Amino acid sequence: MREKTLAILKPDAVKAKHVGEIIAFLETEGFVILDLKMIRMEKEQAEGFYAVHRERHFFSSLIRFMTSGPVVAMVMERDNAISHLRQVMGSTDPAQAGEGSIRRRFATSVEKNAIHGSDSADSAAFEIGFLFPAGGPPAN
Ligand code: RTP
Ligand code: MG
Repeated sequence: MREKTLAILKPDAVKAKHVGEIIAFLETEGFVILDLKMIRMEKEQAEGFYAVHRERHFFSSLIRFMTSGPVVAMVMERDNAISHLRQVMGSTDPAQAGEGSIRRRFATSVEKNAIHGSDSADSAAFEIGFLFPAGGPPAN
């Protein structure tokens, strides 16, 4: 099924200059970029985006990390985009991530793991609307 998902290249990936390589890899995986922007997340914005995790032990550290530098947010489309992105990202912990996955290649810890991807149709709809409320790039 053709669907959309939301990816964020996290501050560690941007700082390490892995943006181009990760986007190139995602395009070779068949993802079409529908919208893209670089932003520095505000604390309240990061807390809203990751609200599902607010009771987790790692929440305050995650918010500090996600606001520590610019990120690249993207809306991407593909057949089974949500599950395919999760597959090519690899596990949250890079030590558990599959060979060739983005996190295996670029993550440096369970927190500084290079990329975020929506984990369900509901979270994709929420996250796309949260970061791209205007609903797509200018038609030109
Ligand atoms: P994401 O939401 O960013 O795509 O990552 P995920 O589904 O693989 O992992 P999730 O459980 O949703 O956790 C969100 C992000 O929080 C950081 N984290 N830190 N210190 C820790 O134990 C810990 N656990 C998670 C990671 O940046 C993780 O991607
Ligand atoms: Mg998650």
